Amino acid sequence: MVDRPEPAALRGDVFEREETVAAWDDDYYHPLAARYYDRALPDMLTAMGVRPGDLVLDAGCGPGVHSIRAARFGAKVKAIDVSSVMLAHARARAERAGVSAMIDFAKDDLTKLSLEPGAFSFIFSWGVLIHVPDAMSALDHLARSAAPGGKLALHILAKDSLDDMIEQGLRRLLRKPLKNLEETPLGRGNWYDFNGERLWVQRFDIGKLERVMAERDLRLVGRRGAEFSEFQRRAPKLLRPLLLLANRLAYDLRLPAALFCTQIVIFEKPPERRNRIDGSAP
Ligand SMILES: C[S@@+](CC[C@H](N)C(=O)[O-])C[C@H]1O[C@@H](n2cnc3c(N)ncnc32)[C@H](O)[C@@H]1O
Repeated sequence: MVDRPEPAALRGDVFEREETVAAWDDDYYHPLAARYYDRALPDMLTAMGVRPGDLVLDAGCGPGVHSIRAARFGAKVKAIDVSSVMLAHARARAERAGVSAMIDFAKDDLTKLSLEPGAFSFIFSWGVLIHVPDAMSALDHLARSAAPGGKLALHILAKDSLDDMIEQGLRRLLRKPLKNLEETPLGRGNWYDFNGERLWVQRFDIGKLERVMAERDLRLVGRRGAEFSEFQRRAPKLLRPLLLLANRLAYDLRLPAALFCTQIVIFEKPPERRNRIDGSAP
């Protein structure tokens, strides 16, 4: 039998640890990556049609780095996360950034959202669904929370991107396949060891995601490459700056989205159809 712990029990653990935040600060929020994020967040919000003063839901805010960017963009932000440790960091960082008045932080679980259906015209979820074992149910809740005509942007890890293919090829060559790889209705995932905890990581098949979202009445309206690779996480410290700079360059050059390891996909819910009897368009 495969030793596979209960997803709910795991999720609490890994996201409630200070070491997890420290690892992300090191791997992702490195000063050299800041300029890329400072561009990518406003680009995503602009592509969604967000304007200063609009209300935006940050679904799975983590330590709040992108809630802060959305607030700096001028949005009013509702930021939710399942983890108390993440929310404590997010509140402290927003305070230090001087934007806490723009952000309403709350504890909530994407797989059991307590938000009003249709409450948000703009929702983004950055790097979150890839870690939710029951991503299908999170998608249900996010789709339900989107208002008619609203936009939902998902930043996800993509299957069959260049770095995925390189890693698969190298693993085949070295005969070191990933253990416990699972095909899922949305792509392919597995449990990793992360600082002694286990972390679910799923790579999304964009075609499958598009079909799943269409079943929830959301259609794909935008797609852009985000991080070109995540090799910096595993590279020797000296190589890390180079890889982060390469990511920055690839983003600025707008290379084809399909090549990128992480991608931002934007979905739209159709506007409410008005009743023919009142004389408006069907
Ligand atoms: C990789 S972090 C991304 C955080 C943030 N969006 C960012 O990009 O910096 C993933 C976040 O998703 C949160 N998360 C995981 N499962 C969740 C769930 N079911 N509901 C809400 N948040 C969840 C975790 O607590 C964690 O903060």
